[in-house]
Amino acid sequence: MNRAPIGVFDSGFGGLSAVKELRRLLPGEDVVYFGDNARIPYGDKSPDTIINYSLQDAGFLLSRGVKAILVACGTVSSVALGVLKDRVSVPVVGVIEPAAKRALELTKNGVIGVIGTNATVKSGSYERTLKSLDPKVRAVSVACPLLVPLVENGYVSDDCLITRLALREYLAPLKRAGADCIILGCTHYPLIRSLIADEWGGDELVNTGLEAAKTIASILASSGSLSEGTSGRLSLFSSDSGDTFSQKASFFLEEECPEFERVDILSYGPDR
Ligand code: DGL
Repeated sequence: MNRAPIGVFDSGFGGLSAVKELRRLLPGEDVVYFGDNARIPYGDKSPDTIINYSLQDAGFLLSRGVKAILVACGTVSSVALGVLKDRVSVPVVGVIEPAAKRALELTKNGVIGVIGTNATVKSGSYERTLKSLDPKVRAVSVACPLLVPLVENGYVSDDCLITRLALREYLAPLKRAGADCIILGCTHYPLIRSLIADEWGGDELVNTGLEAAKTIASILASSGSLSEGTSGRLSLFSSDSGDTFSQKASFFLEEECPEFERVDILSYGPDR
């Protein structure tokens, strides 16, 4: 048994969609969340910048004594996971491999769609991982840079025409390719899951945060590192502050949120 918290980080609030799944699966675990709201978006930044930011984010979580880190951000998981695993002393789980494995279970025709940020799609992370798991599979990826700002600004309800139009444009290549399953390769997309399903005309959608949460749960269980509590605490930290932070975070977490504590993220690194 290990009572230390599980660390989760993301470029902003979006990773709380993974925290929601983690707390459902492991209600007894304490969770420390860091959102890098001062530097979001990561999805349009260069690989070097994303790596530097994510080493600081992980460094902060290590300073809180976490026993494992869930990298909720699709962009960081695509670009920086290898560096994080090399430099960080606790288990680090990203979203790519767990989501790829789930997609391979779901697909019947072997054509898998991937939607994500510019950096995620440019990295080719999903294609590489899917091919390494099953060389016969075909991945079709589309960068959807408008979706994060739409979700951040609350355009998530089923009658949001602007979000529907963006999805129509982004999903067209996946329809043409005949994908029968889509990986929601970004923290924000589970919030518009029903719009995506409706515009695409299918329901086989992989929630990356859920798959990563299942993976971290099984790693901790197999090493005897789960805590045996019953009501885990959630602590929220951010590199920025704002009047509407708790309200925005509740929207991703779908529960009342504790207050955020501000962190000077520039003073952290994995070696601290
Ligand atoms: N969290 C990012 C991801 O999942 C989306 C927001 C951003 O671009 O930073 O890729």
